[in-house]
Amino acid sequence: MVRENGSAREFAFTDRDFNCLRQLVGERTGIVLSDAKKDMVYSRLARRLRKLQLDNFASYCSLIHDEAGNAEEMVQLTNAITTNLTSFFREPHHFDFLRQQALPDLRQRNAGSKRLRIWSSACSTGEEPYSIAIALRQVMSDLRGWDARILATDLDTNVLETAQRGVYKDERIEGLDREVCRRWFLKGRNGQAGMVRARDELRELITFRQLNLMHDWPFKGPFDAVFCRNVVIYFNRDTQRRLIDRIADHMAPGGYLFMGHSEALHKISSRFRLIGKTIYQLAS
Ligand SMILES: C[S@@+](CC[C@H](N)C(=O)[O-])C[C@H]1O[C@@H](n2cnc3c(N)ncnc32)[C@H](O)[C@@H]1O
Repeated sequence: MVRENGSAREFAFTDRDFNCLRQLVGERTGIVLSDAKKDMVYSRLARRLRKLQLDNFASYCSLIHDEAGNAEEMVQLTNAITTNLTSFFREPHHFDFLRQQALPDLRQRNAGSKRLRIWSSACSTGEEPYSIAIALRQVMSDLRGWDARILATDLDTNVLETAQRGVYKDERIEGLDREVCRRWFLKGRNGQAGMVRARDELRELITFRQLNLMHDWPFKGPFDAVFCRNVVIYFNRDTQRRLIDRIADHMAPGGYLFMGHSEALHKISSRFRLIGKTIYQLAS
């Protein structure tokens, strides 16, 4: 197959195929694939076509539309399309705020109920919820007597497996403070050399679940803080509005919402007030 620019492609991939896939992805995940994403879609799915021994994308589209193949391949398709970039303490100012302001405030506010709920709503491979758990342990060293939990969810089943395992290449924590590495991660030995594992004290605070933000949510909250970072950027404005509104409905009054560095609630929601760099507080 020769493209317009003369380069050869292994599999035929027409605009019609691309439109079919972007419609499926949009309906299932809310992710908007602009024309500029056509090459990305090709490269991320070429491996699936090879594995399924298909000759072209038209066959892949038919397979996905086929009742029997649909559900399982839809999962593979969405796993391939999601962008999972993340890191420990990404956007460090959020974790400074969490440690210095949000958690001390919530500890005081919830002193009666001793209940604390934090949601990492697009947790990817888990670095975000483990960073939250570290902050929580650092600020509230004695969590005995507290019902404190972090819910970590993502659409992508592959990244969730990594998140749940909590095992990472040691280079993932390279930039972190030495004391943080020593205190919160176990170094792998022998067969696990070069790997680190989040300590059980962190893991026991987190519940990992597969969840599509576009679907119904099987929980009520209310959450005291929600991390919804670097995910709404993939959705259109209406989807963002609906999502943020539903998140607000699942938050406690005065709860904290953390958004990604290029995400803002301007023209999306008036239920929150901006209190820091991409940090919002739900109106009481
Ligand atoms: C770029 S990562 C962000 C990870 C982390 N929140 C951070 O900021 O470092 C975006 C994540 O959103 C997830 N995602 C995309 N669409 C989703 C949806 N409809 N429901 C739940 N998660 C979704 C992807 O699977 C991906 O892991």
